[in-house]
Amino acid sequence: MAFVFVVVFFFTAVCFLLPLCLLLCTSEKRRGVGVQSRGGDGQKLRLPPGSMGWPYVGETLQLYSQDPNVFFASKQKRYGEIFKTNLLGCPCVMLASPEAARFVLVSQAQLFRPTYPPSKERMIGPWALFFNQGEYHLRLRRLVQGALGPDALRALVPDIDAAVFSTLGAWDGHVASTFHAMKRLSFDVGIVTIFGGQLDGRYKEELRTNYSVVEKGYNCFPNRFPGTLYHKAIQARKQLRAILCEIVAERRRAGAGGDHGDRGLLDGLLRSRDDAGAAALTDDQIADNVVGVLFAAQDTTASVLTWILKYLHDSPKLLQDIQAEQMAIYVANERGKRPLTWTQTRSMTLTHQVILESLRMASIISFTFREAVADVEYKGFLIPKGWKVMPLFRNIHHNPEYFQDPHKFDPSRFKVAPRPNTFLPFGSGVHACPGNELAKLEMLVLVHRLVTVYRWEIVGASDEVEYSPFPVPRRGLNAKLWKQQPEEEIGCSLVQIAAGA
Ligand SMILES: *[C@@H]1O[C@H](CO)[C@@H](O)[C@H](O)[C@H]1NC(C)=O
Repeated sequence: MAFVFVVVFFFTAVCFLLPLCLLLCTSEKRRGVGVQSRGGDGQKLRLPPGSMGWPYVGETLQLYSQDPNVFFASKQKRYGEIFKTNLLGCPCVMLASPEAARFVLVSQAQLFRPTYPPSKERMIGPWALFFNQGEYHLRLRRLVQGALGPDALRALVPDIDAAVFSTLGAWDGHVASTFHAMKRLSFDVGIVTIFGGQLDGRYKEELRTNYSVVEKGYNCFPNRFPGTLYHKAIQARKQLRAILCEIVAERRRAGAGGDHGDRGLLDGLLRSRDDAGAAALTDDQIADNVVGVLFAAQDTTASVLTWILKYLHDSPKLLQDIQAEQMAIYVANERGKRPLTWTQTRSMTLTHQVILESLRMASIISFTFREAVADVEYKGFLIPKGWKVMPLFRNIHHNPEYFQDPHKFDPSRFKVAPRPNTFLPFGSGVHACPGNELAKLEMLVLVHRLVTVYRWEIVGASDEVEYSPFPVPRRGLNAKLWKQQPEEEIGCSLVQIAAGA
């Protein structure tokens, strides 16, 4: 039999993307299409409408021969809010209504477990928050949420501001891929969030280089021949573990409250004890979660930041209004001499609306994956045990019933809160992204520095979308950035006029 290495990339998992090699789920025992079960009132339940496509490949080719968003939208138009399909041997039920998303992610979350291919789990680390459930998941989630809560974020503002300052400084004066610049920024912000801003520069660079090797192999077909990207990634993952264990050992020696201060997610993980006050987290549990946070924080945030630059660039009027909002803060801070504060970030009303609208428009997490752990009834339909279940966030965000004129970039729509369960850029329920406020803070700080100190110009076409693997404008949006403060422009021309130029 020929080896057909079909690697399918999927946007999944709330908060970050875990592209799936769906081949890996074909070994699962699955139920036939003719499954019949009985609902609560003894009625026979039907499977949802939809087509299962060809045997084995199902509708995978249809999905990948066109824009995935068109695939989902046309299905929804034909079948309604719930429909079935088959992707590379996995029978799936897709759900396109706010109500159904709530059912799967919140109200009946215990019936649907997060599901990832084993090769992805191995690469990130099986102890990472998002692969787990139950008590361990809850305990970890509390720790992560604590490290990303309002008090922690307030203290992080200067570090984030410093990371933004150095990212934009390095870009100043030349053309670069916006996405690459934003990835570097998100990595740096991930590092200060985890290590509390006191990490030795050598460690940081080693983590960065090894992490980038892991990332390159992440989407590759898992094979362990030396020389392949996947194999290199596995090796680099081992390096990451070694580096993290070294840092952990140092901090354990220094004790809590050592000269690194006592903040950052890592210290929270190190201090953690279970309810009985015993069992601390193991080095592997800590390392897996550090890699997990870096993974969850980087490409997602970088993609949204890239879209924000594009949307602002494409609407000069909006950019002017944002500049007015941000210049007021900048001037109050004596033109950047005094640091940006947490309270100031809370007052950026229009910028915040732009961020929400960018999250909606770009919907970089198009959908997420769950797996039914039992036969489940939803509105008279049967979702059989073992089937994948996919809430389609993008379809909900682009449905004119909930967002009028959905293809128009209009931040003012967020002057009123969206209807419940219609806006889920960070997912919902116990597996929702715990980093949502950190991500938004990073976006606010970036916009502040960007529009008060810089101008940017997009180089080349930017209207096509590419998947890298989240959607971003073509080639990561090449742009030229240079220093030019809005008021300076006026100042300069006044000087010129005065000089009779
Ligand atoms: C990975 O980490 C090791 C140290 O553990 C370091 O020697 C190496 O240069 C790093 N970078 C790469 C790309 O492997």
